[in-house]
Parts: sequence; C-alpha cells; structure tokens
Amino acid sequence: MNPYVSRSLWALGAVSSAMIALVSYRYLLPSLSMPTNIAANLMVRPWIYVHAGLAATALLTGPWQFLPRLRARHPRLHRWVGRVYIFCCVFGGSAGLLLAAGASAGPVARAGFGLLAVVWLLVNGQGLRLAMIGRYAEHRQWMIRSFALTFGAVLLRVYIPISQMMHIDFMTAYRAISWLAWVPNLIVAELYLRQPRWRKPLATAAARG
Ligand code: HEM
Repeated sequence: MNPYVSRSLWALGAVSSAMIALVSYRYLLPSLSMPTNIAANLMVRPWIYVHAGLAATALLTGPWQFLPRLRARHPRLHRWVGRVYIFCCVFGGSAGLLLAAGASAGPVARAGFGLLAVVWLLVNGQGLRLAMIGRYAEHRQWMIRSFALTFGAVLLRVYIPISQMMHIDFMTAYRAISWLAWVPNLIVAELYLRQPRWRKPLATAAARG
C-alpha cells in the first residue's frame, strides 16, 4: 500500500478510535443517565462499567501497536501496551459476553454481540499465545484480526446515526448492526492478510521449522 494512504488510514482509525473511547469513558462517571436500551439490559450492572472502561482502553491503545517505528524503537513499550490491550480485550470481552446475554434488543442482537465477544476472546488468545512462543509474523496477523473486531465499536457508532438518517426503525437497524459492525471488518482483514507481503514471512517461518 502507498505509504501516504496507509498513514492517512492509520490516522483516521486512531483519531476515530480515541474519540469513541473517550466518549465511552462517560459510563464511569457517577452522574450518567444511560440510553434506554442499555439501561434495559438484564446484565447492565455492574458489567457495563467493567465493559465500557476496559473495552474503551483497548480501543484507545490498539492503534499505537501498529506503528512500525514505535515497535522497532521502543520494543518494551510495545510489549507493555500489548499486555494492557490484551488484558482489556479479555476482561472487557468477557463483560461484553455477559452484556450480550442480557441485551434488550432480543435474540438476533444477543447472538451478534455474543459471537463477537467469543471471536474477540479467541482471536486475542491466539495472538497472545503466538507472541509468547516467539511466532511474531503470525502474532501480527492475529492482532490485525483483533483490532478489526475492536474497531467494530467505532463502526457501530457510525452506522447507528446513518440508519437513523435513513429512517430505518431503530431496533431493526440495531439488530442488523450487531452483526454488520464486525463481520465485514473481519472479511476485509482476511482479504488484506492474503496479500503476498503477509504470506512471505509465514513461508520463511515455516521453512525454518
Ligand atoms: C469487540 C467486542 C465487543 C463486544 C462483544 C461488545 C458487547 C457489548 C454489548 C452486548 C453491549 C450492550 C448492548 C445492549 O445492551 O444492547 C455493549 C455496550 C457498550 N459497549 Fe461494547 N462490545 C465490544 C467492544 C466494545 C469496545 C471496543 C468499546 C469501546 C468503546 C465498547 C463500548 C461499549 C459501550 C460504551 C457500551 C454502552 C452502549 C453505548 O453507549 O453505546 N464496546 N457492548
């Protein structure tokens, strides 16, 4: 990819992630009044506080892990931020799974968010495992998949107002978005990872044994 395009995409992703993360921390304020559909979630307390705090931190930290210069110049920082990111995904994702079970939008949304939580946990577990055994080329690929899922939090908050502008019934849109916010991202990540530049390091690692 053209370096100008990739830098611009990174900046867009990092800024939008930071904005959604900072707005999400509002759940940690004592005076917050929640949206009706979230307040009606059967698992809302205490899990929304755990989820919003940790998942927002994953969203805030994730983009920095993809900067090659930061990784090369400050490997210790990369490892520490990576630990924070994975911790937030694992515990924020577990709280997300509990919230999914209690979602007031019904079974379609429960399944959409629930499967997202399970896939998020599995993908991060695999990313962590590969880093711990030194298979860094594959670790990078799994962390791209991980952030494609994390970024669903941004897209969900873009798709909802768009669906409202299109006068789609809120609940119908919300149920569809519980899937649309992450399945296409994963497909785009897979297509990106099929490029020859990603296959080469894996082939080299496999040849080394
Ligand atoms: C990727 C895995 C994720 C899963 C499975 C997940 C799951 C959920 C579920 C089930 C709810 C409650 C929805 C309802 O009751 O209708 C929720 C709400 C929420 N989630 Fe997540 N979530 C994920 C990622 C994130 C991320 C990365 C953030 C970071 C900002 C985030 C922030 C929030 C917030 C702030 C709410 C409260 C609703 C709102 O104000 O929009 N979630 N999440």
